[in-house]
Amino acid sequence: MNEGTVIDRRGAIVGAGAVAAGAMLGGAAAATPGLHAIAATKGRAFGTCLSWSPKGADAGSLANPRYAALATRDCGIAVPENALKWQALRPSPAAYDFARFDAILRDAERAGMRMRGHTLLWHYDRWFPKWLVDHDFGKAPAREAARILTQHIRTVCARYAGRIYSYDVVNEAVDPADGSLRSTALSRAMGGAEAVLDLAFRTAREAAPKAELVYNDYMSWEAGNEKHRDGVLRLLAGFRTRGVPVDALGVQSHIGVFAPTDSIERLVATLSPDWRAFLDRVVGMGYRLVVTEFDVRDRGLPADIAVRDAGVAAFAKGYLDLMLSYPQLRDVLCWGMTDRYSWLRGFEPRPDGLPTRGAPYDASFRAKPIHAAMHAALAR
Ligand code: G3I
Repeated sequence: MNEGTVIDRRGAIVGAGAVAAGAMLGGAAAATPGLHAIAATKGRAFGTCLSWSPKGADAGSLANPRYAALATRDCGIAVPENALKWQALRPSPAAYDFARFDAILRDAERAGMRMRGHTLLWHYDRWFPKWLVDHDFGKAPAREAARILTQHIRTVCARYAGRIYSYDVVNEAVDPADGSLRSTALSRAMGGAEAVLDLAFRTAREAAPKAELVYNDYMSWEAGNEKHRDGVLRLLAGFRTRGVPVDALGVQSHIGVFAPTDSIERLVATLSPDWRAFLDRVVGMGYRLVVTEFDVRDRGLPADIAVRDAGVAAFAKGYLDLMLSYPQLRDVLCWGMTDRYSWLRGFEPRPDGLPTRGAPYDASFRAKPIHAAMHAALAR
């Protein structure tokens, strides 16, 4: 039984949980069987995002043998980190460039992984191709916007028919600042964001009738996320009212320890009631759950690697134990298997400038205590 991971003010672990104890022994061996295999014993699946790279490149790609070794031992499902986004697929209004995602999908299928599609529409001008933001929607803007959106979704779904079992149809459409729906070139042309999002899901259902259709967002459990959570709940309720085909909420799960804490377990216990209340509302509307982009930011934890890894492992365990208590949750994906290629390296650097350690493996492809924590959570 973990007596809990307590970190004192000097940053030393004063009460190391069993999981954390691994960190004290100078590093953890990767728990066997792999994460997907243990998830599968509970009818679940585990995976990660994948990048594209040239053969043998030092990248988070299956074309990199070192990364492929991690991914194939731990992952039975996968999702493209960037290759299926509009910015990657659509260099111009008339062109589609599928080469990179084709390669990712080919390699993933050869490795026996099922593929998620991320994302048919990231409803945010910042992530639209520039030509779309600047597009002249002409005299019938709503019809032109619908043409562009439906053509994109139909083209992607037709090309990968039967090979993508779940789509993030819409990503991050809610503005976390106030819970409103973002305004974009498409929504301005169609007279409102709901019309765009509804059309995206209806088109995806028609074009990929067997695929799970997911709304994906990064709302979180910390204080300060209330408006984001409420905005997502309003969106999900509206989908139900309007009869829009949405099957699941994608909970990105980019969680983090953002401030010094003397007890990880107490931090988890503090955050859980509001988060359970949110998740209960979501599943109460009949939605399933997907953990789509799990990783742990560690800027509130001390620089010391053993202490930091123990705190990250304990926080990951507490979060995943809560999420996995929902039978509506089946698929769990992390957003990269190693710190070496994690997006966290560039995003929100720690005050001390040390690289974040929020992935299951470190930059030298060694399993960390978080790997054992994820294994233990998936095995429960
Ligand atoms: O591939 C180009 C390269 O050719 C070019 O030289 C280089 C410099 O401009 O950019 C490269 O594209 C970058 C791409 O990552 C691949 O590395 C984009 O600029 C960069 O914006 C993109 O960042 C990605 C980000 O989404 C925006 O798409 C991150 O890798 C990716 O981890 C992150 O993932 C998002 C999810 O899609 C949604 N949820 C949040 C999550 C984290 O932000």
